Amino acid sequence: MRIGILTSGGDCPGLNAAIRGVVRAAKLQYDAKVIGILNGFSGLVNKEIIEFRDEDCSGILTRGGTILGTSRESHKKLTRTEEGKFRLKKMINNYNQLELDCLVVLGGNGSHKTANLLMESGLNILTIPKTIDNDIWGTEVAIGFHTAVEIAVQVIDRIHTTAESHKRVMVIELMGHKTGWITLFAGLSSGADIILIPEIPYDIDKVVEVLNKRLEKGKTFSIVAIAEGALSKEEAEIGRKAATKLWKEQGYPSAGYKIADLINKHIGLETRVTVPGYQQRGGIPCSYDRAIATQMGTYAAESIDNEEFGQMIGIVDGEIKKVPISEVAYKLKTVDIDNYLIKSAKKLGIGFGV
Ligand code: F6P
Repeated sequence: MRIGILTSGGDCPGLNAAIRGVVRAAKLQYDAKVIGILNGFSGLVNKEIIEFRDEDCSGILTRGGTILGTSRESHKKLTRTEEGKFRLKKMINNYNQLELDCLVVLGGNGSHKTANLLMESGLNILTIPKTIDNDIWGTEVAIGFHTAVEIAVQVIDRIHTTAESHKRVMVIELMGHKTGWITLFAGLSSGADIILIPEIPYDIDKVVEVLNKRLEKGKTFSIVAIAEGALSKEEAEIGRKAATKLWKEQGYPSAGYKIADLINKHIGLETRVTVPGYQQRGGIPCSYDRAIATQMGTYAAESIDNEEFGQMIGIVDGEIKKVPISEVAYKLKTVDIDNYLIKSAKKLGIGFGV
């Protein structure tokens, strides 16, 4: 049995743990050969490969990033441009030339679209969901998410002390252009006073209301956790692209700077902005990510041995399960506003700007 494996899209902690899970189980249990494809789908186009030896997986369980390298392959281009179609053809040819029995793709939403395309072209594909954004449909959790939340919480915890000492409103802008999972989890876990996410466009007056209530109670500082893709009600009406253009014209580098300025102008409180950015994607994976990545990896190897292809290895109702890639591709798992996380936060008086 010959298995190809690649990592695609943005990196995240836990990818190496999943690679190790696939490679070790495939070799130890099923006597398979595993071919590592470098730098995402572009490595499949250009046939950049390594053959995994046992020792290649030593010491990588705790390492962040991906030992295979990664890249973003535009799914739009693959389907709509001549160059893209040529690249897709090369991927299929190289899969056949390498005599692969299956390709394991560790990827996020974009990668699932490409994986689906390859599957429709007749290749045997399995996917493992990874993204700190946790927005892949069909799985409760994706590799990398919990580590990113841990990092975000550590950032907010540290900022809390300065907020209190200086009586400031501290705005922490977290990753998530389309979904607010990191901000919601991190905000709730770090005691944020206001949580703003893309799924709930905010009203600045409601944000100010919460801050004023805190002031009335003698709480002279506040923590605002905002997702990079959060929009005001007015911005949501004109759309993300137009809103981003407006920020630039008004001199706001991103959503966090805009809300900080609005808060300052509305109630005169001193504000500061922190954007942890790529730190959320870096460094060692937390134990939970290591554990799910390992399980997903070994489960992928087992599924290949059973010739069960066309599936994403996800977590459903807390258990490892297969979900058809065709159902996952082209969907987005957004935060449901009836989610109990939101209800729980509201019971504590945390504001969502509504
Ligand atoms: O991996 C997901 C993500 O981190 C988003 O939250 C973020 O906006 C995006 O990737 C940025 O990634 P890049 O700069 O690598 O395209």
